[in-house]
Amino acid sequence: MSEPLLEVTGLEAGYGKKSVLQGVSLRVNPGEIVALLGHNGAGKSTTLRTILGLMRARAGEVRFDGSRWANGDPAANGRRGIALVPQGRGVFPDLSVTENLMLGAWNQSDPAIRAQRLAAVRELFPVLAERQDQRTGTMSGGQQQMVAVGVALMQQPRLLMMDEPSIGLAPVVVQRILQTAREINQRFGTAIVLVEQNIKTALEIASRAYVMKSGRIVLERPAAELLAARDSWWDLY
Ligand SMILES: Nc1ncnc2c1ncn2[C@@H]1O[C@H](COP(=O)(O)OP(=O)(O)O)[C@@H](O)[C@H]1O
Ligand SMILES: [Mg+2]
Repeated sequence: MSEPLLEVTGLEAGYGKKSVLQGVSLRVNPGEIVALLGHNGAGKSTTLRTILGLMRARAGEVRFDGSRWANGDPAANGRRGIALVPQGRGVFPDLSVTENLMLGAWNQSDPAIRAQRLAAVRELFPVLAERQDQRTGTMSGGQQQMVAVGVALMQQPRLLMMDEPSIGLAPVVVQRILQTAREINQRFGTAIVLVEQNIKTALEIASRAYVMKSGRIVLERPAAELLAARDSWWDLY
């Protein structure tokens, strides 16, 4: 088996005195799509934030592409190839679509490469070219989510973490956003960690899945196995 792209071991993190992650371990292989599932409050967003470095781990470690990550340093981890599409999107509503996208290319100063990345994102989401000058806050929820995913892709990450990208969107838009995750994975070979409430759709595009509960991973299975038996396990967690 190939060396994992991301290997998280015994991660512990929390907010103030509150301890949330109680020793989270998971791995993502190069080019793999992994679903991270679990009820509200299980610690999924905290896990992604700690991997990127938006919060410091109190114990445990993350290895990315064979070396230890920079604990609590999102810019350093971003330069190495980790990107996060945050829950709630995190785009600037008053900036235009293209202004938001160009902010995502913060790790690249060469204008030619920045332009290439913009072209690749626009090819994936043609609406972002059609509406390049529109204020992002005036777009539909689905389109704003495409901007958010586009911003992360402008970084040209090797690992893309998506935190509930389909939240609040109509079912047909949900399908569209999740199919996009698969397309990104196939086109660019980007490994993806997908946190989703839409369990069925997430399991359809993932190869493996982890289930979290109370700051711990309680289940790890091939996605197809969980999909086939989803009535029998979801209620347990
Ligand atoms: N900024 C914060 N300050 C304090 N507690 C938080 C904060 N964000 C999340 N938590 C708490 O951490 C726990 C895990 O939250 P979170 O990682 O957001 O879970 P999930 O993404 O699985 O819904 C919850 O108990 C939540 O209330
Ligand atoms: Mg969350």
